[in-house]
Amino acid sequence: MSKTQGKTSVTVSTAANIALIKYWGKLERDGNQPATASLSIGLEDLRTTTTLAFSNSDSHEVELEGQPSSRINHFLDQVRVEFEIKPCFKVVSNNNFPTGTGLASSASGFAALALGLNELLDLRLSRQVISQLARKGSGSAARSVYGGFVEVIPSDDAMAVRVLSADEWPLSVIVVINNQQPKEVGSTEAMQRSATTSPYYRDWVKTHTADMEEAKLAIADRDFEKLADISEHNCLKMHGTIMTTRPPVLYWLPATIAVMHTVQTLRAAGTPAFFTIDAGAQVKVICPPACADTVEDRIREIEGVLNTIRTEVGGEPRLSSE
Ligand code: PMV
Repeated sequence: MSKTQGKTSVTVSTAANIALIKYWGKLERDGNQPATASLSIGLEDLRTTTTLAFSNSDSHEVELEGQPSSRINHFLDQVRVEFEIKPCFKVVSNNNFPTGTGLASSASGFAALALGLNELLDLRLSRQVISQLARKGSGSAARSVYGGFVEVIPSDDAMAVRVLSADEWPLSVIVVINNQQPKEVGSTEAMQRSATTSPYYRDWVKTHTADMEEAKLAIADRDFEKLADISEHNCLKMHGTIMTTRPPVLYWLPATIAVMHTVQTLRAAGTPAFFTIDAGAQVKVICPPACADTVEDRIREIEGVLNTIRTEVGGEPRLSSE
C-alpha cells in the first residue's frame, strides 16, 4: 500500500500538556512504551505550529525553530517505513514558548507531526492510532493529540484517551519559568537512570496505579483538594526517583523550591492551588480561574522567577490544509 495522495500542505497547531500523574520510565520495548500510566491537562496557549509538505529532494528538509532536528528526521523515516511512503517531507515547526526546557515542547511537537502526517498522507487513522504514532516520537506526545484531561494506560501499544473535555472543568494554569536554558539531562536518559539506579523506582511503579485511580476519582467528582493532594504527591515521588539516581539528576533550582513553598502557603491560607513539575526547573501551578490573579501576582514576587505564562486547560488541536 503506497499512500501519497493527500493534500499538498498541512498546518497543525497543537498544545503542550502537563501531566498531573506522571509517565516516568519506559518498558524495554521500542516505541516509548510507558512503564506507568499518566494523566494530563492540555495547556491552551503553549503551542507548536507545524507546516508539513512533501519535499522535492531525496532527504527530509526539517526546521525546528530554524534549526535541523535529527529527532524529527528519525521520526519521519519511521513513518515512511511504517506506511510505505516514497517521498521525503518538508517540515517547519515553531513553538510560542521556550523549547527543550521542561515545558513539553516535544509533546506538542510530535503530536503536531502525527496529526499533520495523517492529514497530508490521507491516512484516515483514528485519533487513538494517531496518538500511538505520536508516542513513538515522545511518550508525552501521545496525550497532546487531544485537549482537556487526557489519560494514557500502558498496554501492548499504549495510546491516549480523553477523560474530560476542558469546558467540563475550567482550570487556570500558571507556567512559572525559572530557567531559559535547555536541560542538561534529557528525560529519556533520566528515566533510564532512574529505572536502573534509583532505590525508589520499583515502588514508584508499584504505587502508580493507586495514584491514577485517586486522580481520576478526584476529576470525576471535580474535587480540587483531592486532585491537588494526589498531584503534588505523584510529582514529588517522581522527583524522588530522579534525585536518587547515580549519578544524581538535580532539575530543581532555588526558585523551583520557593514556588512550591509559596503554593503550599497560599493553600494553607485558603487559596486553592497546587504545583506540578516535569523534568526541569519550571513549575506549573493549577488553580480555579477566580484565584489565578492572586496566585500569579504572588509567584511573580519570588526571587529567581524569570517569567510566568498564564493559560487555561484546553489545547484542542487545530488543523488547516491546502
Ligand atoms: O515524553 P518525554 O520523553 O518528554 O517524557 C515526559 C516525562 C514527564 O514530562 C516528566 C512526565 C509526563 O508524563 O509528561
